Amino acid sequence: MNVPTGILDRPGKGPPDPARIRGLGAHGGLLARLFRLRIGAKLELSFLLIIIVISLILSLVGTWLIGDRFVEQAQEKVGTDLNAAREIYQNYMVRISDAVRFVSDRDFVRSPQMAGGRDRLLRRLTDICRQEHLDALTLTDARGVVVLRTANPGVYGDDQSRQQLVQAVLRRHEPVAATVLIPHDELVQTSPELAQRATIELVPTEMARPRTERFSTTGMALKAAAPVFDFEHRFVGVVYGGVLLNRNNEIVDKIKRTVFQGLQYRGQDMGTATIFQDDLRIATNVLNPDGSRAIGTRAAQNVYDAVVRGGGRWIHRAYVVRDWRITAYEPIRDYRGAIIGMLYVGLLEGKYVEVRRRTVIVFLAITLAGSLLALTLSHNQSQRLSGSVKLLVAGAEQLACGNLNQRVEVRSGDEFQELAETFNAMAEALKARDERLKEQTARKLMESERLAMVGQLAAGVAHEINNPMQGIVTYSYLLMESAPPTGFERESLQKIVTQANRCREIVRGLLDFSRQRKPDKRPCDVNVVLQQCVALVEKQALFRNIEIEKTLGTDLPPTPMDPSQMQQVFMNIIINAAEAMAEGGTLRLATRFDPAGECVEVAFADSGCGIPEAELERIFEPFFTTKGARHGTGLGLAITHGIVKEHKGTISVESQVGRGTTFTVRLPLAPAEEAA
Ligand SMILES: Nc1ncnc2c1ncn2[C@@H]1O[C@H](COP(=O)(O)OP(=O)(O)OP(=O)(O)O)[C@@H](O)[C@H]1O
Ligand SMILES: [Mg+2]
Repeated sequence: MNVPTGILDRPGKGPPDPARIRGLGAHGGLLARLFRLRIGAKLELSFLLIIIVISLILSLVGTWLIGDRFVEQAQEKVGTDLNAAREIYQNYMVRISDAVRFVSDRDFVRSPQMAGGRDRLLRRLTDICRQEHLDALTLTDARGVVVLRTANPGVYGDDQSRQQLVQAVLRRHEPVAATVLIPHDELVQTSPELAQRATIELVPTEMARPRTERFSTTGMALKAAAPVFDFEHRFVGVVYGGVLLNRNNEIVDKIKRTVFQGLQYRGQDMGTATIFQDDLRIATNVLNPDGSRAIGTRAAQNVYDAVVRGGGRWIHRAYVVRDWRITAYEPIRDYRGAIIGMLYVGLLEGKYVEVRRRTVIVFLAITLAGSLLALTLSHNQSQRLSGSVKLLVAGAEQLACGNLNQRVEVRSGDEFQELAETFNAMAEALKARDERLKEQTARKLMESERLAMVGQLAAGVAHEINNPMQGIVTYSYLLMESAPPTGFERESLQKIVTQANRCREIVRGLLDFSRQRKPDKRPCDVNVVLQQCVALVEKQALFRNIEIEKTLGTDLPPTPMDPSQMQQVFMNIIINAAEAMAEGGTLRLATRFDPAGECVEVAFADSGCGIPEAELERIFEPFFTTKGARHGTGLGLAITHGIVKEHKGTISVESQVGRGTTFTVRLPLAPAEEAA
């Protein structure tokens, strides 16, 4: 016997039907088959992808930000350094201006009488020159004609009124100071030694603008001029003097000392300063590869274009002699505002590049370490998740194999734990149902075995009793016929005949029940069989108070059946219905064709007493009767059930106590084994 196992039944032993188990995640395409990865691997891969993308973005953005910030900060610093350098440069100018004004105020300059002669004047002015670190001092008269030169006393009487500063003082009688260019001739006049110092050989420089000349002979100087007034406040002359900047590294070295404080990087000065005449380094502490000052080298073309030609500041990296530096340049203008040179400060880029590189490496290392940590965590997490899934899969497989004691232990505290708990509850429910089913089946098995035994016994007894019974009925009847028509003898014999007949009926019923005769089926009209039954019973006393209503289907196809057996079925049901309506009632008979079920349906609905719930499941049992041993054998429905079963049909009953009962017989048009 097949024991139903519900959802555990799986057709065949092959893999599960994909149509049934396909979930949201399975799209069944080629791609899905190509990438059929375990859930753990999928999780790890997706984590890895996220980590790689985030790390990459972080590294790129971080590196870019750090790099940018570093250069920006260095650039800001150099910009500030250039301001400091300008201050120092201006201080020098103020010092020279003060020195010249101080000279113009001296009595021996204001009054030739007080000078005490030309030689004495020369000596005194030369002393001042030395004290004030001036390269030259020159005195002119009120027209600008040179009276005395400290650096070249032998040359005088020349007109210097067209010189920028002298001209300004002659016009406005006020002291002035500025950076000026001094042509070679004027330098020679002032001092041949200064002219020589100003002459610089141009050194070929990488990235500088092309220049054809080999030497630069013009000088650039910090110069001041002041008017001289006599004691009556009459303008009597001009005194001017200054410092030649060519090869004079005092200012640039002071800038380096003050601003960069001797900062070194890999044996080189970190910070450097330069004074340019046009694009030419005339005073600098930028060094040549041989360690000498890079005087005579020139500024890069792009810097020259921006500062000397364009007149703006340059605060960017620039190529300086032999290194890239973070630099700041600004123009130096003469008294009239024309750009004649540049002031430069710069820092070696190398240190910043290295710091930036180190920072980026540290940043990358942190990102990498973070990524590895995240990867380890994600690996653990995905292992944990896939571990839960594996447990659930193994549990489900065990369950599918029929091991209903299988339980899954997941303590993840998440949906997987919920799933496992649900799985366990399901397994528990399945187990309970399985046990219930087994119990029911065993009970039914025992019952049917018992019934079969009773049936066999009854059939044997009936068979043995049948013939003697026949004799008893016949002879008792004959005796009764021959007995006087009234009196105790006849009455007794009458009772014997009645009881013997009843016994014979029981025996016949038992024989019918146990005979198991195969129905002799042929196509019949169910309506005809039913109407024959009605015709047989309706005139009987039992049906006196019963109204019979018929609703017969007109489209009934011929139904294969044994008509005499089927008559017995219908009769049993009809008589039962009549017996249930002892006080009268309605019996509704209906037939119909059910195309979906491919069967003919016969319904018997009475308005009788109905059957209590507890009895419903027992009415088909042999010998079950509520009519008492004198009136019923309890075999009617048992025989009915047997015949319908032999016809591969079904019989069902619905009943409500006090309202009535409906029996429905369904007879298939082509029973299963016949169709086959
Ligand atoms: N239409 C019905 N209305 C109410 N009870 C019914 C109906 N049909 C059957 N029964 C109940 O089912 C029992 C079994 O019926 P069944 O036909 O097998 O035996 P019976 O009628 O008691 O005896 P027998 O048919 O041998 O005379 C009946 O005793 C009765 O209690
Ligand atoms: Mg009956």
